[in-house]
Amino acid sequence: MGSVIGSVDQAGCEWLQYDYGSAVIAKERPASFTMWRYRELLPVPDGPVRYPMPVGGTPLLPVPALRKTLGTPHLWIKDETRNPSASNKDRATALVIEDGLRRGVGTITTASTGNAAVATAFGAAAAGMRAIIFVSTDCRPEKLALMAQAGAWVFRVPEGYAAAVDLSRAAAGAFDWLDRNTGANPFTIEAKKTVAFEVWEQLGRRLPDAMIVPVGDGPTLVALAKGFAELVSCGLAARQPRLVGIQAECCQPLVRAWFGVPAGPAELNPAATAADGIAVVRPAIGDAVLDAVRRTGGAMVAVTDSALLSAVATLAGRAGVGAELTGNRVASRRVISRGNLVAGHAQAI
Ligand SMILES: Cc1ncc(COP(=O)(O)O)c(C=O)c1O
Repeated sequence: MGSVIGSVDQAGCEWLQYDYGSAVIAKERPASFTMWRYRELLPVPDGPVRYPMPVGGTPLLPVPALRKTLGTPHLWIKDETRNPSASNKDRATALVIEDGLRRGVGTITTASTGNAAVATAFGAAAAGMRAIIFVSTDCRPEKLALMAQAGAWVFRVPEGYAAAVDLSRAAAGAFDWLDRNTGANPFTIEAKKTVAFEVWEQLGRRLPDAMIVPVGDGPTLVALAKGFAELVSCGLAARQPRLVGIQAECCQPLVRAWFGVPAGPAELNPAATAADGIAVVRPAIGDAVLDAVRRTGGAMVAVTDSALLSAVATLAGRAGVGAELTGNRVASRRVISRGNLVAGHAQAI
C-alpha cells in the first residue's frame, strides 16, 4: 500500500509525498502490467483495486521505420492510445474513481477540452457512477457522441473551456462530487506519473535522455517530472530526463511565457488549431510546467498545425500509430539529436 506522508507545493501544484526507497518498485514484473503496479507510490489504501478496467502498462514502441525516416536511432514512442478510451487521461480517471468507489461517492465531474471527458464518461460507466461533464461548445462532435454513448450528462458552455472549469469545480464543491478537474485534484498528477515509471522499467530500469510531451493544462508534463523525480528520490535513477513541452502555434501561452514574451491574440486563439486537446489559453498549472522544464534543462516549442498534421501522417505511415494532433513526435530531430528519446503520448483518432 502507498502511504502518503505529506505534500509539498511545487510551483503552485500540490505534490503528494511518500516514504521513498529502492524497494518500492519490485524487480519482478507481475503477470498483469497495469498502473496499479506502482501502488506503493500511489494514494491507494490496502485492499483490492475496485476500478474495473485495466489501465496503463502501455507499450514503449521501438518504431524502427520511423527511426530510419527521422534519422533518430534511439527514438521510442510511448503509445498511450492503448488505454481504454485511447489516451493517458484514463490513468487520472481510474485513480479518481478508485478513490470515489472506496469513499462511496456516486458522481464524478470534470471540465475538459474533450479527451479527459471521454475518459471520465467511459470510466464512470464501467464503475457504475454518474458523470457530469462540462465542455466548451467548440468540443468536437465525435467526442460529444462518445460521452453521450457512455451515458454522461454533458453541459456545453458557450463561454469556453475556462468557464467550463469554473462551473465544474463549483458544482463539485457544492454537491460533494468527485472533482477530476485536471491540475485541481492532485490525484490526476499521481496517476499520470506512472508513465514515467513504466518508461524507466521498459528501458531496462534506465531513464531516457529526453521526453517530448504535448502540453495543454500541464498535468501530463508535470506528472512526468514528478515521476522521474521520485525515481531519483528512491535511489533508482541518478538524474531526470529533459522535458520538452509542445504547444500549437495558435495557442502557445506557455511557450511565450518560457521565452518571456507576451502572447499576442494570434497565439492565444484555441479555435484556430485542430489540436483541440492542448488548446488551453489559461493552463491550470502553467507555472509548474515552466518550473519542471527549467529544472530538467528542457525547452518549450510551438508547432504549426500543418507540421502537426504531417506528424500524424508520419506516425501512422512509419510507426503504425493512429494519433490525433495532440500526440506526436514533433521537433524531436531538431531539439535533441542523440540518446534515447521518448516522444509524448499518442491519442487514437
Ligand atoms: C491526447 C492528449 N495529450 C496531451 C494533452 C495535454 O495534457 P495536459 O492537459 O495534461 O497538459 C491532452 C489534453 O487533453 C490530450 O488529450
